[in-house]
Amino acid sequence: MKILAFAASNSIKSINKALVTYATTFLDQHTVEIVDINDHQMPIYSSDLEEAHGIPDAAYHFARNITEADAILISFAEHNGNYTAAFKNLFDWVSRIDQKVYQGKPMVLLSTSPGPGGAKSVLALAENSAHFFDGKVLASLSIPSFYDNFDQETGKLINAELDEQLKAVLAKI
Ligand SMILES: Cc1cc2nc3c(=O)[nH]c(=O)nc-3n(C[C@H](O)[C@H](O)[C@H](O)COP(=O)(O)O)c2cc1C
Repeated sequence: MKILAFAASNSIKSINKALVTYATTFLDQHTVEIVDINDHQMPIYSSDLEEAHGIPDAAYHFARNITEADAILISFAEHNGNYTAAFKNLFDWVSRIDQKVYQGKPMVLLSTSPGPGGAKSVLALAENSAHFFDGKVLASLSIPSFYDNFDQETGKLINAELDEQLKAVLAKI
């Protein structure tokens, strides 16, 4: 299968990008494409902009990435209990092409943050709303206290229990 993987963060040092990149090492029986949402930059969504200039090419490009994938792996960064503005903006533009943003694809959802909550709020938001956007969530996992549980030098989870849980959710793909 072809897996599209990305972090829902525009931070160059994104811990969710580190997590999703590590997670893809468990998917070596598949073809994985890791994309960076920074490569799909668009102005802040406005209906006025859309009326005047249409939907940006970058939104069509991202939607095509989803079309070409058999499954999707996302790791969500949490800002104030919610999506990052960068991901929400991308999502809003893509939803103007078709509200079925996830196009019926099976999905595994991850999240992490430096705190003990592990970005659980945004993960729940993404999981509970995916069906509105034709996403089929197979499994989800929040990794709490990122810096305690992940070794940034090796790019690996160092908490064996969380590592097993991660393997288990990825095995659902
Ligand atoms: C504006 C802002 C709001 C944040 N809100 C939360 C939050 O609600 N929950 C949380 O766990 N972390 C929060 N954080 C900390 C992020 O989890 C942290 O910056 C993390 O590195 C973001 O993920 P990323 O590195 O993948 O972008 C917030 C950070 C910022 C800058």
